[in-house]
Amino acid sequence: MTDVLIIYDSNTGNTEKAAAEVLEGVKESGASAVAKKVEDVTEADLRTALAVILGSPCLHDSITGRILYFVEGLMRNVSLSGRPGAAFGSYKWSGGNLSRLEAELKSQGIRLVAPGVNSLRAPNAETARKLRALGQTVGEEALKLKKDL
Ligand SMILES: Cc1cc2nc3c(=O)[nH]c(=O)nc-3n(C[C@H](O)[C@H](O)[C@H](O)COP(=O)(O)O)c2cc1C
Repeated sequence: MTDVLIIYDSNTGNTEKAAAEVLEGVKESGASAVAKKVEDVTEADLRTALAVILGSPCLHDSITGRILYFVEGLMRNVSLSGRPGAAFGSYKWSGGNLSRLEAELKSQGIRLVAPGVNSLRAPNAETARKLRALGQTVGEEALKLKKDL
């Protein structure tokens, strides 16, 4: 069982680099974590995760088709209500991906416990710090939930 599941999509690697920073942050919290590309995520991964972090590049001011397919399909099969989570992504000129990701997480009852982080292309040092802080906060919330179970 993994405490925090990081689900992301990436076409040219920028969101993948952001996911790696988030993963580091979760590990710093002491929680266990795995980062998976969206097409590799299984229903069992979702069922056993205490927290969910979702990342997508910005495509036409929204999220990728693969992430959309996932949130409207597999993710709706699992009750995630009350679990902590957060969103991140990568963009070049507009940030519609982040608001869409957060809306999808909220619509499934996930508690947004950290402000979303959108990286302008690949993360620079400052964005990497914010991505790690996001991961750390979600990791801490997952551990709190674990204690209460
Ligand atoms: C077809 C296409 C559409 C895009 N649309 C947007 C957009 O609407 N807004 C934006 O900020 N960036 C847009 N981008 C830029 C990507 O979001 C940006 O390059 C991002 O860093 C890619 O992340 P990735 O390397 O994880 O795929 C678009 C890129 C492509 C290829």
